[in-house]
Amino acid sequence: MVLGIEEQSLFLRALKEKDLPMVLDIEERVYGFPWSQQIFKDCLSMGYSSWALINEGELIAYTVLSIAVGEAHILNICIHPEKQGKGFGRFFLQKLFKIAKDKKAERIFLEVRPSNKAAIDLYKKLGFEKIGQRKAYYPTKDGREDALVYSFDLTSLID
Ligand SMILES: CC(C)(COP(=O)(O)OP(=O)(O)OC[C@H]1O[C@@H](n2cnc3c(N)ncnc32)[C@H](O)[C@@H]1OP(=O)(O)O)[C@@H](O)C(=O)NCCC(=O)NCCS
Repeated sequence: MVLGIEEQSLFLRALKEKDLPMVLDIEERVYGFPWSQQIFKDCLSMGYSSWALINEGELIAYTVLSIAVGEAHILNICIHPEKQGKGFGRFFLQKLFKIAKDKKAERIFLEVRPSNKAAIDLYKKLGFEKIGQRKAYYPTKDGREDALVYSFDLTSLID
């Protein structure tokens, strides 16, 4: 029997340094240009809003956000490769909206590669709007790729 997402044991907790081996394993499996351990350590020590999504006792996703002066910025969000396409990304982002709103952010921003159709589809479905493009933002195997910048109006959410 396949459980619906609402029937599973699923919760967010703060990301910790002890999670980094699992996080790096996922990061390196998912991205061509993964963040290093040092980047995650710096984010944790600098107090970025960093969260793990725990499903049935296992870390299946993580995110790092910066939240300041009314704006939240998703710096990384990643679902375990075997857990993608099952609704966890949507669930995680909706929880992040609440976290950012509780910290008085009015907008949430992110960058995404134009080639990342799965992520763009999800952002559009959740109500993100494209607000810009950063030239040559991401490395690729043979050069650079632009980033699309998306934003979501957190004030549109009903408490
Ligand atoms: C992008 C990502 C966060 C989406 O999370 P997810 O759990 O896989 O997505 P969900 O199952 O919640 O899907 C929600 C919607 O996203 C879109 N989507 C998800 N996977 C997709 C795929 N493989 N192809 C096309 N659209 C897809 C669909 O619109 C889907 O809606 P539907 O369920 O009505 O079809 C996740 O796949 C991931 O971590 N990818 C690798 C890292 C990454 O790209 N991070 C974002 C960087 S900006």
